[in-house]
Amino acid sequence: MTDLHTHILPGMDDGVQDVETSLEMLRLEWTQGVDRVVFTPHFHWQRENIKTFLARREESLSRLVEAIHRLPREERATLPRWEVGAEVDWIPDLAQREELCQLCLGRGNYFLLELPFGLWSGQIVRQLCEFMGRTPYIPVISHLDRYWDWQWSSHITDLLQLGIPIQLRATALLKLFSRGRALRAIDRGQVHLLASDCQGIRGQLPDLGRAMDIVKRRLGPEQAHRLCRWAEAVCPSRGMTT
Ligand SMILES: [Fe+2]
Repeated sequence: MTDLHTHILPGMDDGVQDVETSLEMLRLEWTQGVDRVVFTPHFHWQRENIKTFLARREESLSRLVEAIHRLPREERATLPRWEVGAEVDWIPDLAQREELCQLCLGRGNYFLLELPFGLWSGQIVRQLCEFMGRTPYIPVISHLDRYWDWQWSSHITDLLQLGIPIQLRATALLKLFSRGRALRAIDRGQVHLLASDCQGIRGQLPDLGRAMDIVKRRLGPEQAHRLCRWAEAVCPSRGMTT
C-alpha cells in the first residue's frame, strides 16, 4: 500500500522537523501496512523558487537516507520504500509553469495540488479546465475533506468530469462526524485516493491502514483495492528503496 501524501521529510515545511522523528514516522507507516511512501513537502510559488526548493528537498532526503543506512540491516528491511513529490499550491497561471515536471509524484505526470481554503470560484474551475487541455500534467486534489463543507458541489462535479482525481485524508474515515460522508463519496466513485497527509508525532499521524480497514469492512475489499490501484497509477514507482 502506498501513502502518497506525507510531510515526513525533515525540516522541509510545517511537518516533521528532525531526522529521528522522520524515522519514527516511517516505522509507523510500516505498522499501518504501508510499504511505499511519497514525500510531498509543500511548495509555494510565491515564497520560494523551484531551484531552492529542489535543493532543499534533495538535502533533506539525503539526511534521511543517510540515517536509514546507519540502521541495522534487519531494521532497514522493515521500512517503506520511498518516492518524492510535492504538495503544490494553486496559482492562476499554473498552465504556464514548466517547472511542474519537477514536482510530479514519482516518475509520473500527476502532481498533488492544494486548492485555496476559501470558497472556490468558477474561475478556478475554468482555469483548471484550461490547464487540463494545455499541459501533460494532471493535478490530484489534495485533502478535499479539509474544505468540502464550503464548496459548491457542482464545482467538485466539474473537477471529476475533467478527470481530476480527488484525495481524502485517512482521518476523514476515522472521525465519526465525517465517516459517513467519506464512505458515500468513495462508494460513488467521487474519491480516488486515501492518504494520511501525516505531519509529525504531535500532529496528523500515519493512519492509512486503519482507514483502509474501515473501507474494507463497510464497502468491501474491492473498494479498498480500487483506492490502492489509484495510488499506484498516480505515482508509478521509480524503484527507489531505503
Ligand atoms: Fe499536506
